[in-house]
Amino acid sequence: MRVVLLSPSYPNEMSKFARGLAEVGAAVYGVGDTPRSELPDHVKPYLADYLQVPRIMDEADVMDRVSDWLRGRHVDRVLTNWEPLVMLAARLRERWGMPGMSVDTVRGFRDKELMKERLRKAGLRVPRSRRVHTAHEVRAAAEEIGYPLILKPIAGAGSADTYRVDDAAELERAISFLRGVPEASCEEYVDGEEMTFDTLCLRGRPVMENVSLYLPKPLEARQTEWISPMAISIRDLTTPRLQPGLELGRRVLEVLGMQDGFTHMEWFLTPKGEAVFGEIACRPGGAGLVDQMNYTSDIDLYREWARVSCWGHFDADPTRKYNVAVVFKRAKGWGTITRIEGLGSWLRMCGPCVVEERLLRPGNTRRDWQKTQTADGFLMVRHPDWDETLRMARAAATDIQIYAQ
Ligand SMILES: Nc1ncnc2c1ncn2[C@@H]1O[C@H](COP(=O)(O)OP(=O)(O)OP(=O)(O)O)[C@@H](O)[C@H]1O
Ligand SMILES: [Mg+2]
Repeated sequence: MRVVLLSPSYPNEMSKFARGLAEVGAAVYGVGDTPRSELPDHVKPYLADYLQVPRIMDEADVMDRVSDWLRGRHVDRVLTNWEPLVMLAARLRERWGMPGMSVDTVRGFRDKELMKERLRKAGLRVPRSRRVHTAHEVRAAAEEIGYPLILKPIAGAGSADTYRVDDAAELERAISFLRGVPEASCEEYVDGEEMTFDTLCLRGRPVMENVSLYLPKPLEARQTEWISPMAISIRDLTTPRLQPGLELGRRVLEVLGMQDGFTHMEWFLTPKGEAVFGEIACRPGGAGLVDQMNYTSDIDLYREWARVSCWGHFDADPTRKYNVAVVFKRAKGWGTITRIEGLGSWLRMCGPCVVEERLLRPGNTRRDWQKTQTADGFLMVRHPDWDETLRMARAAATDIQIYAQ
């Protein structure tokens, strides 16, 4: 089993997928723009070979180089779990006539308007929206959709350049911020809690399902610095209020033609209990979500993803044992981190429920909280009981402070 894995070392957690592939017996051919000499030690042992390309986002160039590199060698799969490369992987599969999702199918998981068009046609509840290119089109779309609305790039990630707009004056401001974005989505604002629906699919059917609740909504977390954003995987997926979201999610996978691999969907649970689609991608959620799901069931989804992708079966027990909360911390002040307060007592309070403690230590430069979801590090804590999990997560949010100056 020979697998081309696009970007095996960036972002960091991609190396864990390289590890998973090697562990199920695949020979991994990595392709990335990291120089071979700078490949981290935790990736190298898992790669059978590696091709460094000058620009990983230059699809035509990468396709030519990879084709030359592999000439004469048989390849069975082209895989990636990094969002910007899912189309490139599909193009390579198509060029080489290989199994896996087609370019057209993958586009349905990448283009935020196309996915909604396809789902709307199938009768699923998606926000009213329009694809817009010019200021003129934005104003016309706003007229039709009404306020409040959301304006965001079609191929966005990390809530970057996403704006809530409440009136015409704010619309003009958002238009000026979005200059330089070639294509945007103008969308009905949906009120409600925001959750994920994550799966690992085998021939389009989930062999593992996950729902995590965002606290608060990512857009809010993105706008207010003092917030410690969290996401909590929900152990008990039989909870009645989650059923509309689970049903919606499963239908979305059918309509969009999912085959093998991870999906990461975001949806809204409105105050009336209705599930409204947000967006979906055919890769796992970032910011530690795969680890969060692993801790939820005590399984290794890096390896199971590899097994599904290479051998068409899933070998883990996805029984959900815990709610797992991840809490991201942002330092107070700018510059170098000088001290952390409250960590010791929080760790003592939570004891063995803490599964990860990855706060940046004094001496490190604090990160830009608007650019990275993980910010100045995170904590992960788990418990079978929901209220207990929430209590420990809230304590991490309020009682632990990182200071920088
Ligand atoms: N129609 C909407 N109604 C209400 N809130 C929305 C809507 N669309 C987006 N948002 C808010 O903006 C956030 C970012 O939007 P979206 O998830 O579409 O973009 P993204 O940049 O791909 O995000 P990410 O990569 O972080 O998941 C959402 O998580 C949500 O909080
Ligand atoms: Mg999103």
